[in-house]
Amino acid sequence: MAELVGAVTTSHVPSIGIAMDTGITQDLYWKPLFDSYLPAKEFVKKLKPDVTIVVYNDHGLEVFLDRVPTFGVGAAAEYAIGDEGWGPRRIPPFRGDPEFSWHLIEHLIAQEFDVTMFQELAVDHGFSVSMSVAFGGPAGEIDEWPTRVVPIIVNTIQFPLPQPARCFKLGQAIRKAIDAYPKDMRVMILGTGGMSHQLQGERAGFMKPEFDRMFLKNMVDDPVALTKIPLGVYMSEAGHEGAELIMWLVARGAMNAKVHEVHRHYHVAASLTAAGLACYTNL
Ligand code: DHB
Ligand code: FE
Repeated sequence: MAELVGAVTTSHVPSIGIAMDTGITQDLYWKPLFDSYLPAKEFVKKLKPDVTIVVYNDHGLEVFLDRVPTFGVGAAAEYAIGDEGWGPRRIPPFRGDPEFSWHLIEHLIAQEFDVTMFQELAVDHGFSVSMSVAFGGPAGEIDEWPTRVVPIIVNTIQFPLPQPARCFKLGQAIRKAIDAYPKDMRVMILGTGGMSHQLQGERAGFMKPEFDRMFLKNMVDDPVALTKIPLGVYMSEAGHEGAELIMWLVARGAMNAKVHEVHRHYHVAASLTAAGLACYTNL
C-alpha cells in the first residue's frame, strides 16, 4: 500500500531560485537562508519519496484571471518548466505519475472535492523553487528529479479563495486517497506558499513575524485552531499574499493529527517575504 511518509512546508520566492541558479547562495545576504535548507534536504534524502504531491498556487502562468479553478490536480506524464518572463529555469522537467494522479482525482471527487483536471500543465516558481529547496537541483546540478510528482493547484489569485478549513479538509481527503492506493509507494507532501508578505498596494513589504511564529507553532500543536482563523484574518494579519499559507494547511491536513517536527526555520526576509520551512513526520 502507499504510505504518506512525511511533509515539507516552505515559502517560495522567485529570487530564491535565481540565487540557486546563479550560484550566489553563499553570499552574505543568502547564506543564512540556504544554510537552513540543508537539514530539510537531508530529511528528504532519507525519506526517499517515490512520489511527491506538491500543493502550490499558480501565479498567473497557466491559470489567469479569466478562468480560475479553486482546486486543480495535474494528471500529466511530464510537467514543463514555465517561462514567467525571465526565461524558464534551466532545470529538468518534472516526471508525473498519471496513474496515481487519476487515482487521486477519482478519490477526491468521490469525497466531493470537484477538482479541475490538468492533463497539460507547466509549473512556475511556486512549484520549482520549492522542489529545489527540498531536493536540490539548481540549474545544471541534476539531469533528473529523484521523485515523480503530482501537482495540486490552489487558487490564491482571484477572489473568492478557499477558506483555511476547506484546505485542511482537502488535505484530509488527499490522505484518504493515498491510504487507498494499492501500490507500494512512498509519498511525501510538499505544501508551499507564504509566509507573511504583501507584494502590492499600500502595505507592500508588510511582514509579521509574530503571526508567522504562531502559525509555525500551531502547525504542530493545534492545526485545527489555524483552520478556525478566517481567510480575511490571514490577509489582514499576514499580508495579502500571506493567504498562501492555506497550502501549508492542505499538507498539514494530510498528515496525522499528531506530528513530529523534524526541522523548523524562520527567516526575515527573502526579498519581500518572511521565509519559513518545516519538516514533519507522522506520529
Ligand atoms: C514573490 C513571489 C511569490 O510568489 C511569493 O510567494 C513571495 C514573493 C516575489 O516576487 O517577490
Ligand atoms: Fe507565491
